Amino acid sequence: MPTISLAIQKGGSGKTTTAINLAAALRQQGKRVLLVDMDPQSNLTQALGVLEEPEPSIYHLLHEEAEGKDPDLKRIIMETKSGLELIPASLELANAEVELVNVYGREQLFQELLNPLKQTYEYIFIDCPPSIAVLTVNALMASDFILMPLQAEFLPLKGVRSFLRAIDPIRKKLNKNLKILGIVLTKYDYRKIMHRNVLETLQQEFDGKVFDTFIRTNIALAQAQENGLDIFSYRKRSNGAEDYQALAAEFERRVANS
Ligand SMILES: Nc1ncnc2c1ncn2[C@@H]1O[C@H](COP(=O)(O)OP(=O)(O)O)[C@@H](O)[C@H]1O
Ligand SMILES: [Mg+2]
Repeated sequence: MPTISLAIQKGGSGKTTTAINLAAALRQQGKRVLLVDMDPQSNLTQALGVLEEPEPSIYHLLHEEAEGKDPDLKRIIMETKSGLELIPASLELANAEVELVNVYGREQLFQELLNPLKQTYEYIFIDCPPSIAVLTVNALMASDFILMPLQAEFLPLKGVRSFLRAIDPIRKKLNKNLKILGIVLTKYDYRKIMHRNVLETLQQEFDGKVFDTFIRTNIALAQAQENGLDIFSYRKRSNGAEDYQALAAEFERRVANS
């Protein structure tokens, strides 16, 4: 079933927040979803209430896979406080970049690990670090779609263009199955002319790829993370919950039509 990478090389775009709450919204609708934290900063893992360094984390399994041990990914799936299923990251993942440099087929390690799980889940979301190095490449190799959250505050055209350019070789050579699902604007405020301008510019340049649903700025989204919960478990009646529910509906439509 579809695997979706939340990726863009800029931090603070709403990747982690969107991974958690889009997955949670789909789970509310009875979908079986899995979250994967591919970022050494472990924001996703921590925002779901896992505060101790998990062992094993995805780091250990990438290593075992690199050593040809054929590890079982199921072994590290955790159930978080709010019931979401998670493959956690740990800070050691930051070393993977250097440690895997001489490993043959290092771009495919995660894809091989994930394959046996693909039938179990309706959607798998991978939260990527804000860079395009070996971990993001591993995520993209295992994915069917890329979803790019962008903060409305900055004019992100250049960033999106350079990101698309950087991943072009992956889409052309390594994973021809990888599609751009679209761009989601986060931290959006209708009252700000700047935000409306950002939206219009993106719509002009990436025709049809900008989601109609925006995620408004909503402090409850940040508070939910401080409490280790998704927005639906933390505050069901909030703009954040409403927006992510709408996003989930549009997301499923777009996945079905692509
Ligand atoms: N719609 C929103 N409203 C308010 N705060 C948000 C919203 N989306 C994200 N945030 C906060 O902004 C920060 C960056 O978001 P995050 O999802 O971690 O971005 P990224 O993963 O791209 O670095 C986090 O502290 C998060 O809680
Ligand atoms: Mg993040």
